[in-house]
Amino acid sequence: MSLLGIIGGSGLSKLGNMEVTRRKVARTPYGEPSGALTFGRINGGEVVFLARHGYGHTIAPHEVNYRANLWALKDAGALEVVSVASVGSIADHAPGTLVVPHQVIDYTWGRYATYYEGKGTPVHHIDFTEPYSRLMRTRILEAAASCGEPVVDGGVYAATQGPRLETAAEIERLARDGADLVGMTGMPEAALAREISLEYAAIAVVANYAAGRGDSRRAIPLDKIEAVLEEAMVRVRRIIEACCAKK
Ligand code: HPA
Repeated sequence: MSLLGIIGGSGLSKLGNMEVTRRKVARTPYGEPSGALTFGRINGGEVVFLARHGYGHTIAPHEVNYRANLWALKDAGALEVVSVASVGSIADHAPGTLVVPHQVIDYTWGRYATYYEGKGTPVHHIDFTEPYSRLMRTRILEAAASCGEPVVDGGVYAATQGPRLETAAEIERLARDGADLVGMTGMPEAALAREISLEYAAIAVVANYAAGRGDSRRAIPLDKIEAVLEEAMVRVRRIIEACCAKK
């Protein structure tokens, strides 16, 4: 089985169940990734892990060098990538729910969103009808089923610019657009992965109800988020472990 790339988001800056073999500070033509790549084994499978926001959680969503992160994983030999990202819930998914989204709407701006730019670089259009890899989504869903962890199969992920959270009216608009989840890091990550032919899919971890919804009707209870993510990441780690099991 090939090397599996794992990008950890908020609440997942390391994988406790990983047997670490080495760390590598990677350099890319696009600059430095968010931190050193951590190589190792989980459940017998070879993995390379990268914390999206840096190991001390110091890099804001709009400041993440997505190009360098994905390039570094590919350069390290990963062909498949699982991305873990916390989200707000627009639909009815309660905090703690794990969702494997199937679609994306991109509201981000001003980010480096393609490898195909700059003088002399040919124009290139990727197909993005299905933004997540079918193969990788299936692998995650099957892994979750095999270890008995409930996950929601499908959801529309709205990628917002951040770092501020949204207004209630903005969430209403996203809902009208058809979004189920809102997060700040899903794009351009997914598109860049497609550009360099990585099999990429995400596990979205619902941290809170989005602004104006559920118990976030008046304000998002930010103080509750850490505990929700801590508990949910235990389940995410189990799913990743099952993803790594030799078939
Ligand atoms: N909005 C945007 N991104 C998020 C949220 C949210 O409510 N929760 C976690 N990431």
